[in-house]
Amino acid sequence: MKPEDFAYFCKLILDRSGLVLGPDKSYLIESRLTPVARRHNLGGLDALATALRQNKDAKLLRDFTDALMTNESFFFRDTKPFDQFREVVLPRLLTTRATSKRVRIWSAACSTGQEAYSLAMILKEQGAKLAGWTFEIVGTDISHEVLAKAQAGVYTQFEVQRGLPIQFLVKYFKQDGDKWQLAQEIRNMVQFREFNLLGELTGLGTFDVVFCRNVLIYFDQKTKGAILERIAKGLAPDGFLYLGGAETVLGVTEKFEPLSGHRGIYALTNSQSAAQPPAFARAVGA
Ligand SMILES: C[S@@+](CC[C@H](N)C(=O)[O-])C[C@H]1O[C@@H](n2cnc3c(N)ncnc32)[C@H](O)[C@@H]1O
Repeated sequence: MKPEDFAYFCKLILDRSGLVLGPDKSYLIESRLTPVARRHNLGGLDALATALRQNKDAKLLRDFTDALMTNESFFFRDTKPFDQFREVVLPRLLTTRATSKRVRIWSAACSTGQEAYSLAMILKEQGAKLAGWTFEIVGTDISHEVLAKAQAGVYTQFEVQRGLPIQFLVKYFKQDGDKWQLAQEIRNMVQFREFNLLGELTGLGTFDVVFCRNVLIYFDQKTKGAILERIAKGLAPDGFLYLGGAETVLGVTEKFEPLSGHRGIYALTNSQSAAQPPAFARAVGA
């Protein structure tokens, strides 16, 4: 790969998605983009760079972007955030939203859907407790390819063995050859949409809970800050933000502060959620 093409690919993906690829990523670029060049009948990476520079083929640009994303995800990833959702956030929402009985949850950068579906299964498990409530789960990602997979709800044996409790596999999945199909009742609980986190949130509405996990790590400080500020605007004043285990708001934005006693969950600074009433904190064992 020519150095100027490498620099061009890095700049293009940075501008399109925020993904920062350093000089040590030339092997990754080569191994991910060579199949894209082949699929589009381009002779190699220099021909791919030329075609992308001409900026005439939207599908090529989309395939280029998809190929450079890291889409690693699994059901109930890291376990604790989902336990906290069930035991801390959900009871809180059932109190604060008792009048509207409406809750909106956003799985931002949802990849192949496991995060959104994990939340849907938790809600389904609540049974009659949520009768009369509307829970809307929206999963978004920049990558077209992962969204198609999320929508289909079909997973490999390997994917259902990562993080998914066996009783949920039995209850909510049906084996179809060497794949597992997620039940329609769970799939119906989630809507998937293409959305670039570098864009404005207009059109997505306001959310009560945002899961934005394991994606900010790929961005530079400025981009992380800008994304978190936009999320802050799209979050209900007493809403909750989840970040991944290697991510934090500290030193990035002052719009959020950690929820005391609950690692990985953030609330808007000086909001009611951040200042948990002592009775509530005691009830959930915080
Ligand atoms: C490592 S996965 C994380 C999936 C899930 N949140 C989890 O924690 O398991 C990161 C996802 O972020 C998506 N992504 C990267 N840049 C993005 C952007 N600018 N806008 C929206 N999604 C993006 C990728 O396509 C990928 O699916």
